[in-house]
Amino acid sequence: MANYARVIGTGGYLPSTQRTNDDISEFVETSDAWIFERTGIKSRRIAGDQETASSMAEIAARQAIAMAGIQPEEIDAIIVATGTPDRVYPSTGCLLQNRLGIKNCVAFDIQAACSGAIFGLSIADQYIKTGTYQKVLVVGSEICSRIVDWSDRGTCILFGDGAGAVLLERSEDAGILSTHIHADGQYEELLYLPNPQAALPENVNEAGYINMRGNEVFKVAVNTLGRIVDETLEANNMQKSEIDWLVPHQANIRIIEATAKKLKMSMEQVVVTLESQGNTSSASVLLALNEAVRDGRIQRGQILLLEAFGAGFTWGSALIRY
Ligand code: ACO
Repeated sequence: MANYARVIGTGGYLPSTQRTNDDISEFVETSDAWIFERTGIKSRRIAGDQETASSMAEIAARQAIAMAGIQPEEIDAIIVATGTPDRVYPSTGCLLQNRLGIKNCVAFDIQAACSGAIFGLSIADQYIKTGTYQKVLVVGSEICSRIVDWSDRGTCILFGDGAGAVLLERSEDAGILSTHIHADGQYEELLYLPNPQAALPENVNEAGYINMRGNEVFKVAVNTLGRIVDETLEANNMQKSEIDWLVPHQANIRIIEATAKKLKMSMEQVVVTLESQGNTSSASVLLALNEAVRDGRIQRGQILLLEAFGAGFTWGSALIRY
């Protein structure tokens, strides 16, 4: 009998402070019209001084746990995707485990930049399918506002803060149908976040901010996401028309539109959150999933295609019968 990783709970958290395009245009040479037209973003949330990836993850995780109607100690594994961990170690997963008061589960972080949530879903799916674990919590949590150079208009307009969570349970009813994850390290220089403390001597002067050649990233992202759509459909012997919802990583509305077009989907079938959230990196897909589950757009039995692309480059998809 087939066993699946079924979604039994979702959660999301966004800090209360909003930073609009007009706010940004007060400190860099840009405009609301330029940003909205090129990206689809109008505002993003900024974490408070006392917030961290683990504090935001806890709020999203508790929502997912409440929706699932389980006790935290029933969770067998916690997987946190983040590029902005509270500390390099202990992992944010361990910090979240402690915040949730769980003693007997495994907890760890994964690092796949904006693809982190999809990588997390893929790892969780393997553990659940093999019967190693029954219940796995996957969280993406990011404080991107602390790793962007607010004087660099090419990057500071894009990113925002937030956390998304999903709780998966081993079930005979359909859940994750397949995941496909990929990496290609040759594109390091197009998008990277320096780690000044561990860098080679020639790089120690690099500030710890996102470096991105946006235009080149954009082109690779569009092509790569087109390929992952084909790969996912083929592996599941499925037609484009069978997909009910596209739940994409929220990097740029033009990248999302290109993927929707490839799937011949109308934008009504695409969950878009980036207008008010920007790119929350590994949190974005899970935040979008949570929003559409909670507002009733996503219904049980529907087919969802989740996808993401990020630094590495990394990219991937998860096809889910919700
Ligand atoms: N306001 C006004 N002008 C700007 C701004 C700005 N905020 N930013 C750049 N410009 C200017 C540039 O200086 C350039 O001017 P020039 O022609 O005089 O040199 C012009 O606008 C065009 O610049 P491009 O970089 O070619 O603009 P583009 O249309 O590519 O848009 C953007 C830039 C929005 C960053 C886009 O490239 C993008 O979204 N890229 C993808 C980002 C992405 O997907 N990242 C992956 C995930 S992130 C992760 O994994 C952490």
